[in-house]
Amino acid sequence: MLDELSAIQSDALSAIDSVDSETALEEFRICFLGKKGRLTAAAAGMRNVSKEDKPAVGQKLNEVRKTITGLVEKCTVELAALKDAEAVAGIDPTLPARPLTQGAGHPLSQMLNRAVDTLHQLGFAIAEGPEIETEWHCFDALNTPQDHPARNEKDTFYFDSGKLLRTHTSTVQVRTMEGVAGPPVRIIAPGSAFRRDEIDATHSISFTQLEGLYVDRDVTVADLKGTLEYFFHSIFGKDTELRFRPHFFPFTEPSFEIDVKLHAAGKTSRWIEIAGCGMVDPAVFESINSQRKDDLFSPDRVSGFAFGLGIDRLAMIMHGIPDLRLFSDNDVRFLRQFA
Ligand code: PHE
Repeated sequence: MLDELSAIQSDALSAIDSVDSETALEEFRICFLGKKGRLTAAAAGMRNVSKEDKPAVGQKLNEVRKTITGLVEKCTVELAALKDAEAVAGIDPTLPARPLTQGAGHPLSQMLNRAVDTLHQLGFAIAEGPEIETEWHCFDALNTPQDHPARNEKDTFYFDSGKLLRTHTSTVQVRTMEGVAGPPVRIIAPGSAFRRDEIDATHSISFTQLEGLYVDRDVTVADLKGTLEYFFHSIFGKDTELRFRPHFFPFTEPSFEIDVKLHAAGKTSRWIEIAGCGMVDPAVFESINSQRKDDLFSPDRVSGFAFGLGIDRLAMIMHGIPDLRLFSDNDVRFLRQFA
């Protein structure tokens, strides 16, 4: 019996050398340790060993089992290591890592976020409205008569349904006043607007606007000027010169255009128009009342100011970008400069 066990052990020791795969290892294990394996058979023979020999044989049996189990474990680890090595063969882990390319916001998004953040600080909340609008929200409610050029087919994208792509974000003024519980209202509405323009360096068929509306008791032109001066000084710097130039919009009275003085290196400074604004026209409040019928926005009770900025224009001035089309060309050489 002892000889038999020694033979099993030395057979196992030499057989393990030729085990070179997981399948071969499993065969090896079954051959020696399996239910019908050689060691199991030998253990069954313990029955026939005499009482005196039992301790010695039993000890030998355990020793051989331990050795063979050890062989299986060692070989399992070695095979796993071999597999790992094969998986990374040809890869040099000592090479420096590839640099991660980090994305960044589009210059228009960056500009918009900055504008929104600044107005948030002044207590303006974000409001939204659809890009496909009714004529009511785009024109009628905003005191814009039938014969106004903005309503012209040549200037505006109409659908067969009679709806249109909003020509400005002022639609959100109307939607907000129609929908809120009542004044005060202090909102900004960033979003796209669409016009049938000839596309060139400074005109596009779609652009990003930021609308603002403040309605409360006793809002005055001083509030309008103070708010917008604060805004533009935060964006362009404290010393930037601004000018409020009288203008006309159907939905504000009085109305202004705001110009900012640009100092480009090597060129004479010039004024650039960047926003439209004004005091909400009483006729707009009347339109709102005609819908709400609760008189909360009666021009006798409230007044307000509104403004609309072109975010594209702002970003162009801010970064000295000469052509609006660069924003939509998607050329990474351009975009990377703002990362
Ligand atoms: N809606 C105007 C435009 O698109 C801008 C504007 C907004 C003017 C609010 C006055 C008040 O040109």
